[in-house]
Amino acid sequence: MNQPNEPWWHGTSIYQVYPRSFADSDGDGIGDLRGIIDRLDHIAALGVQTLWVSPFFPSPQEDFGYDITDYTGVGQEYGTLSDAEELIRAAHSRGMRVMFDLVLNHTSDQHPWFLRSKGSRDNPKSDWYIWADGCGRDGRRPPNNWRSALEVNSAWQWCPERGQFYMATFLPFQPDLNYRNPEVKDAMFDVVRFWLDRGVDGFRLDIFGQIMKDPQFRDNPLSPHVVNGFPQGWRRQYTENTADNIDFARELHDVCAEYGDRILLGEVFGPPEVLRAYHADGAGLDLVFLFDFLRYRYDANWFTETIRRFEQAFPSPMQPTYVLENHDRSRTIDRVGGDPAKAAVLAVILLSVRGVPTIYMGQEIGMSNTYIPLDDALDPVASRFFRRLPEFVNRRLRERLNRDEVRTPMQWDGGPNAGFCPPGVRPWLPVNPDHVTVNVADETADPDSLLALYRTLSRVRRASAALHRGTLDLIPGLPEGVLGYRRTDAASGEQCATFANLGRREQEVRPISSTLLTGCGGATLDGELIRLPPDSAIIVRRTSSQRSAAGH
Ligand code: GLC
Repeated sequence: MNQPNEPWWHGTSIYQVYPRSFADSDGDGIGDLRGIIDRLDHIAALGVQTLWVSPFFPSPQEDFGYDITDYTGVGQEYGTLSDAEELIRAAHSRGMRVMFDLVLNHTSDQHPWFLRSKGSRDNPKSDWYIWADGCGRDGRRPPNNWRSALEVNSAWQWCPERGQFYMATFLPFQPDLNYRNPEVKDAMFDVVRFWLDRGVDGFRLDIFGQIMKDPQFRDNPLSPHVVNGFPQGWRRQYTENTADNIDFARELHDVCAEYGDRILLGEVFGPPEVLRAYHADGAGLDLVFLFDFLRYRYDANWFTETIRRFEQAFPSPMQPTYVLENHDRSRTIDRVGGDPAKAAVLAVILLSVRGVPTIYMGQEIGMSNTYIPLDDALDPVASRFFRRLPEFVNRRLRERLNRDEVRTPMQWDGGPNAGFCPPGVRPWLPVNPDHVTVNVADETADPDSLLALYRTLSRVRRASAALHRGTLDLIPGLPEGVLGYRRTDAASGEQCATFANLGRREQEVRPISSTLLTGCGGATLDGELIRLPPDSAIIVRRTSSQRSAAGH
């Protein structure tokens, strides 16, 4: 339980459902809202407190829902508006909160607003998107050097009807809305209210950092560097995390505040020291994803330094938001050679560190990437930009260029189609052949499974004030390869500690007298001694009431 004045989302845990791949209730090979409702008990049993549902709105599905044509409808393949309302109610009745995905930055190029806007330079919607004249004698060169978020192409797309360029930060069929036009803001804030009126508890904000661009369209400065593991040519000084964008976060916060304690979680990119600005002293975004864990190194020093950095940038009452995988990036387990023992250690860290952990559907059972050649990609990023890349290069990359590989159907059981859709139906993406052993049904029956560990971790976390709302102190001086931190709840005096051995040798730690809460990989607590084989982790609670700054 949180303290009386503490917002509900402090220390909550989030489960991401990608609806197209979660559960197909009507046998068309595509997941849907009823499918989610039918499977809510799995999410509730996992013990997560907040459900985030990726887009299910009407869309031509060129970017599988992140290209929207109607923000207050439900795509017919996903169900109806009353299904969406029922999903909210059904989650609430199980004590869970619900976040929907809000794609503010862009619409589909098939959205009626864009179809109108591109028709002429003087129609009622002509200024709803970001339009600019081109350069050069024929005006066919892009207006400036702004690159798309993928960095491989210009952010500007030529529109013959208007003889102008429109801006598309992500893919060419996703034109950016112009939030300097107050009508656009009003229209989208009404969308926000529409879903808040129906009871959603907040939103995950799609590529939120790039909404407000420089009104003077100044060139971004050339500066080769790496962000989140991706090489960048230009610093996005005028297109990302601008001061106007932080102001926009404040305005959005005010809209949500009309409804009480609702939550905004931003997909924003940049160093934590920059991203903290979105918090705006509690008047902006409540949470921002910190994506560094997506490209973790399985190394105690790496985790120690990353957690230290997040703690410094997001001190209480701010909450770091941790994420190991999502619908865009590689599955966690593939980054550690498919080793379930290592995936278990990562789960212990994710669910015992201070802040908000996010779990992507299937992560809890150890789903892995499903290799799908670039040639077969449905994902527009892969099919438009990377189809020519030789497969032997693609297979060796640490990151997946074809996002289909991380979006294959949820593995419910070891039977045909993994229980995602009826036998004989072709799912929209292939089911991973490993579903015969990696699936919810088998792991539910196995007390030593990764799923069992995730469930235990969630339960332990919820029951412990120190774990879900306590402060965090990294424990210095631990043996090589061991990560350790202490969590303390000042109000109750409860103190817990996590130790994880990411090294190659067995190690020992002597905590002050403690009891075992949970662990993995054969870690044991015997009297005053913790034994940590390689790839093991443990969470203990201190039994003595006396605290010592030095003890661990
Ligand atoms: C975000 C989404 C991604 C989508 C893109 C464009 O990064 O996570 O799936 O393709 O935005 O909306």
